[in-house]
Amino acid sequence: MADIPVLIDCDPGQDDAVMLMLAMASPELDILGITTVGGNVPLARTEANARRIRDLMGRPGIPVHAGCDRPLVRPLVTAAHVHGETGLRGLDLPEPVAPLAPAHAVDFIVETLRARDDVVLCPTGPLTNVALALAKAPDIAGRVRRIVLMGGAVAGGNVTPVAEYNVFADPEAADVVFRSGAPITMIGLDCTHRALLGPRELARLRLSRSAAARATLALFDHPSAWDPPRYGGRQGLPVHDACVVGYLLAPGNFAGRDCHVAIETSSRLTLGQTVVDWHGRHGSASNATVIGDVHATAFLDDLVERLSR
Ligand code: BDR
Ligand code: CA
Repeated sequence: MADIPVLIDCDPGQDDAVMLMLAMASPELDILGITTVGGNVPLARTEANARRIRDLMGRPGIPVHAGCDRPLVRPLVTAAHVHGETGLRGLDLPEPVAPLAPAHAVDFIVETLRARDDVVLCPTGPLTNVALALAKAPDIAGRVRRIVLMGGAVAGGNVTPVAEYNVFADPEAADVVFRSGAPITMIGLDCTHRALLGPRELARLRLSRSAAARATLALFDHPSAWDPPRYGGRQGLPVHDACVVGYLLAPGNFAGRDCHVAIETSSRLTLGQTVVDWHGRHGSASNATVIGDVHATAFLDDLVERLSR
């Protein structure tokens, strides 16, 4: 696919940073803008981190817009214990040079989706900005080419036994998005936990002097990458959000099925669960393509090659 226009909504975040570098290293993608949301770390950090990565990759022409600093109705629960207080633990980048764009992220999302009807929207953080854009301008649900998001899980969560972070952090926003009628591809933990950046990929990245390879190593060449295999797979760490870009570049490396997905917003025990009707028990019409598997070697080889250029 050539020239895929994309709008990225993110909360960098270590794996968001790899996702941004992969996107900026991929000429097939026309990145119309980056919007940021409070998530892994507070908004002031996520917007500055997005600008740092933009500087690192030499792409000052891509606008970065700041959005919501907290979920729709809940206090922000960060993941700083995973990503570090800065959001980019391990990667020490200078203060960003190129400024923030003036418009609020929600307005920029609405304007961009109203201006053209071929944009793929790629959320990789809590869905607050996207939900507010859909609430403000419900017509964009029918204009967006597809929402390809990282979030949710069929088999098990990473915050609670059933909830994945991005959905758990703002379940009401996820509920708005999944009910919106927009075409959605959900790339959840069932996929991202099968595509781990491990010793093999890190060794190959060490052969490159590119800024993106160096930065990825700073973020992920960590002793825990050699921990005993987790998630029933191989050694390594998940680069969740990068799977979204991998999917855009080579959807054939990913497999899933069309299902109905509902979001749990009230249960104390299962808050933030993506209730995926994988076997069609409800008979409800599908509202998402849920990715359940990935050809991990093909995806990771391509990721390493692009970051190494
Ligand atoms: C998701 O949560 C965040 O911590 C990551 O950046 C990713 O988007 C994985 O559950
Ligand atoms: Ca993220």
